[in-house]
Amino acid sequence: MKIFLDTANIGDIKKGVAWGIVDGVTTNPTLISREGFKDYKSALKEICDIVKGPVSAEVISTDSEGMIKEGKDLSKIDENIVIKIPATLEGLKAVKQLTNENIKTNVTLIFSPSQALLAAKAGATYVSPFVGRLDDISSGGMELIEKIVAIFDNYLIDTKVIVASIRHPLHFVESALIGAEVATIPFPVLGKLMKHPLTDIGIERFLNDWKKNQ
Ligand code: E4P
Repeated sequence: MKIFLDTANIGDIKKGVAWGIVDGVTTNPTLISREGFKDYKSALKEICDIVKGPVSAEVISTDSEGMIKEGKDLSKIDENIVIKIPATLEGLKAVKQLTNENIKTNVTLIFSPSQALLAAKAGATYVSPFVGRLDDISSGGMELIEKIVAIFDNYLIDTKVIVASIRHPLHFVESALIGAEVATIPFPVLGKLMKHPLTDIGIERFLNDWKKNQ
């Protein structure tokens, strides 16, 4: 299973990469504006220089022409840039065109299996279903992942599922059990994945026993 970091924070990306477990990064307009970058493109370039894997950059336009223009422009930043396009009919048109031009896409804001299937049919490289935001409205986020993975398996679809809007370690573990190809994880949740109180207690006990014999 691939792990992407869901952040635009350069310090956190460097830490995650140093842990040896980060395969890519996803950003969105909220995450980018949170970091207060002066220049969007140079921020993305900096991220691409740190992470040797896919880096998703989201378009702002809502019409297909604008999305295609922005997508082409952003794709010139680095060969690892993936263009994030919202799951709309205009978005499908943009995905089709960008795919025809060998530009990778990640269809985002997916909340239903039909959106994922249509995105895949248009040629999306990735789809990003949002589990946390569905859980927030009492509509099982992980059930959506199960359905999308089953549909893609039925038709041997190559489009990869990125589980997005992850809020806690169980989302990550359930994604792996279902067989989603990627989980994109906020930095604080990534740290929690490796945490276990018995590990901490075990280290403390070993060190105390060791000191007694010195
Ligand atoms: C990633 O591709 C998504 O933009 C992100 O996971 C959304 O997360 P949120 O629902 O916590 O904003």
